[in-house]
Amino acid sequence: DVILTSGCSSALDLCISVLANPGDNILIPRPGFSIYRTLAESLGIEARSYNLLADRQWESIDDRTAAIVVNNPSNPCGSVYTREHLRAIAHIAERYKVPIIADEIYAHFVFPGHEFHWFASVNPNVPVLSCGGLTKRWLVPGWRQGWIVVYDAKGHFAEVRKGLLALSTRILGPNTVCQAAIPDILEFTPPEFYASTLKCIEENAKLSYAKLSAVPGLRPVMPEGAMYMMVGFSQSEYPDFPDEMAFTERLVTEQSVFCLPSRCFEIGMFFRIVLTVPSDMMTEACDRIAQFCAAHHRPTGSAGNGRV
Ligand SMILES: Cc1ncc(COP(=O)(O)O)c(C=O)c1O
Repeated sequence: DVILTSGCSSALDLCISVLANPGDNILIPRPGFSIYRTLAESLGIEARSYNLLADRQWESIDDRTAAIVVNNPSNPCGSVYTREHLRAIAHIAERYKVPIIADEIYAHFVFPGHEFHWFASVNPNVPVLSCGGLTKRWLVPGWRQGWIVVYDAKGHFAEVRKGLLALSTRILGPNTVCQAAIPDILEFTPPEFYASTLKCIEENAKLSYAKLSAVPGLRPVMPEGAMYMMVGFSQSEYPDFPDEMAFTERLVTEQSVFCLPSRCFEIGMFFRIVLTVPSDMMTEACDRIAQFCAAHHRPTGSAGNGRV
């Protein structure tokens, strides 16, 4: 039930290829990781975004919807879904008989106080292709080790299993040297390794949240897991910049701090910061963002202290 792939990207590629035909569509999260659209559209499959904040977007399901992609914990949001929320998604999937591609590359990568749940654990009637890999939790993106785990308690996926096997032999994807290490990595990684990685990322999240919350016109959203933080910015307080793209471009020019504009995730007026750098660099980066903002901030006339 496990197919090894060249990183999680390749796992996603196989899942989308096996479930959808040209002319079909898949539902993908917005904001979300850009590769879902890139992969789907290169195969002639339409990628329809569902909004992570508003549930009305479910209306985009039709009889050519081949899969719903769910990314939990999320890049770029750092959100971690509750079991109830996953159940609610599974309920829709069951009702419309649409399988789930669960991008669970950040499985268990959640801060203390939050709990990760595998999508496949919430509803046995919904078949799930769970994509994962060594890239994030084990911090080895270059090793290109990914996998698909097939969860199919009710036997809906007989054809899909055959298809996945066939696709996985189209090219020889996984790096065999690193593949040989997977059993030891999964079995013998000391728990302190996971704990210390999470601690480092969570401390960076707290540090940057505190620093950036104090900057007028910025609104960081505290993540619950994964490696990122989204920061909203109030354009009306930064009239030099028409949008977050202009803001991040000038930020890298003036302060050499590179943040990803949220249009990469199909929404506007946020930028994403990555929390995986050493804390002294994180501190310096946030201080430089604050300096940059101080140079460009214009309080809105009637908005009190100008905070959003
Ligand atoms: C949500 C998500 N899925 C998949 C990937 C790709 O992982 P890999 O490097 O294993 O292909 C990433 C990497 O950024 C990611 O954030």
